[in-house]
Amino acid sequence: MTTKPFYITTAIDYANGAPHLGHAYEKILTDVIARFQRLRGRSVHFLTGLDEHGQKVQQTAALRGLTPQEACDEAAVLFQALLRNLNITHDDFLRTTQPRHKQVVQCLLQKLFDAGLIYKAEYTGFYSVRQEQFVLEKDRNQDGSWPEIFGEVTSITEGNYFFRLSQYQAWLVDFLNKNPDWIFPSFRQKQVLEFLKDPINDLCISRPRERLGWGIALPFDNDFVTYVWFDALVNYFSAVENTGLWPADAHVIGKDILVPPHAVYWPCMLQALGLALPRRLIVHGWWTIRGSKASKSSGNAVSSLDLASIYGTDAFRYHLIREMSVGQDSEFSGEQLESRYRSDLANELGNLLNRLLNMGTRHTGGIVPIVGETHPVEEPETELLALWEKTAAQFIELSEGYRFHTALETLWVFIRFMNRYVEHRAPWKLAKSADPADRIRLENCLAHLAEGLRLTAVLLSPVMPDTAARIQENIGVAPARTFAGQIEWDLKKTGGAHLAEKAILFPPVADPAAQK
Ligand code: ME8
Ligand code: MG
Repeated sequence: MTTKPFYITTAIDYANGAPHLGHAYEKILTDVIARFQRLRGRSVHFLTGLDEHGQKVQQTAALRGLTPQEACDEAAVLFQALLRNLNITHDDFLRTTQPRHKQVVQCLLQKLFDAGLIYKAEYTGFYSVRQEQFVLEKDRNQDGSWPEIFGEVTSITEGNYFFRLSQYQAWLVDFLNKNPDWIFPSFRQKQVLEFLKDPINDLCISRPRERLGWGIALPFDNDFVTYVWFDALVNYFSAVENTGLWPADAHVIGKDILVPPHAVYWPCMLQALGLALPRRLIVHGWWTIRGSKASKSSGNAVSSLDLASIYGTDAFRYHLIREMSVGQDSEFSGEQLESRYRSDLANELGNLLNRLLNMGTRHTGGIVPIVGETHPVEEPETELLALWEKTAAQFIELSEGYRFHTALETLWVFIRFMNRYVEHRAPWKLAKSADPADRIRLENCLAHLAEGLRLTAVLLSPVMPDTAARIQENIGVAPARTFAGQIEWDLKKTGGAHLAEKAILFPPVADPAAQK
């Protein structure tokens, strides 16, 4: 029996601007989960893409004197470059303007229409011509007038199509109560239940074409286009239709698009269509820069992406994953990235590898000593091995629960311990001793360091894939494709390996002050 590949998705980003820090983080987090699952031995299907329809894209393109499609094509280039720069291992990139997607959206709409789950009704409301949107009573100024930005506001009546969302409210509440782990972290699921305490309305899924031209035509009424959320959510399904990959194992999204789109509209749409629900929603918080949400409008969020090229992709990935507890907000600071780069990466990890390479070159002919019965271990080695076993078990368990920031913290406890172990053993002193027992200690020490680094690289690889590969290359071992058989302490795996002479994993970055 073959198991279905682990199917994971990111949100599809709006095509009305350049990628920013929030977009970068979501791709990296999803990539870490995807790489972790592959190391667990699962095959993975990883989807990401662009959300290209809707008013915002239409407006931004018009302002720039471009057609919406031209603006989207430009955005697609930028977002695909981002994926490459961040070393993201996605399998598919969906754009909602692609025929493969539009066909599926239309087919699903027709199904719902035929089943009587979409109906037409009149809607009366206040409409701002300048903003081209409906406004609500709560948008009025205190004196009852409309804010200047809306220009002239008039009451209009418009026919539109509605999806019978309200019909699924009781079912959804019941589903959430029966599946308390559907949303991670679980406090978010409680917020959804809180939202569902009030009755929900049916969902308006159309926009008159005369007001909004840039969208997918309703298959049963060409005077209307599809509401952008109804179009966008379907991407997760349209990308894999007829492949057997549905349902998704995880949708990774930010907290601003949980309620109502992902936690209310999407499950109800699927239920109405008789399709299975995604197995989990993983909801991350926001990156803030000086306290406010990183976004396209805050130029800082874009320039923070430059730090990935200054410090390197792996250091950037490390910092974001180490800093953010999935589900909580985090403040981004270039200073903190710089400080982690110097301490955790250069001084602790980089230095450890260099110490091994140096001493190996100097004292054991560039070869990891082969040790066995002839080399009895002493207390420091026994401690190191015991700490590894604890580290590996905790790292895997924490990562399974998306607690990658704590998993990395745990791994760094081990890395720091190895540095202390070297200082304690002081192989450079042992090398000067005439006592044969000291030669055995020296060889044991280098063998244990090499094995400790081999193991470290395996656990580090989902977050820092290039660094892991460079460690493996420099200590002369093959890359690990799965955790199985690769995370148990085994001196035979490194004994006899050829060490490089030296390696600078994290070179000093010139004039960090210039990057702030
Ligand atoms: O919402 N910190 O697109 P989008 C962390 N097209 N994550 C952030 C963030 C920040 N400061 N800013 C944005 C959309 N994000 C829709 C999605 S899915 C069917 C359609 C996250 O470009 C945000 O939470 O505004 C979302 O998950 C993703 O970036 C895309 O945001
Ligand atoms: Mg947004």
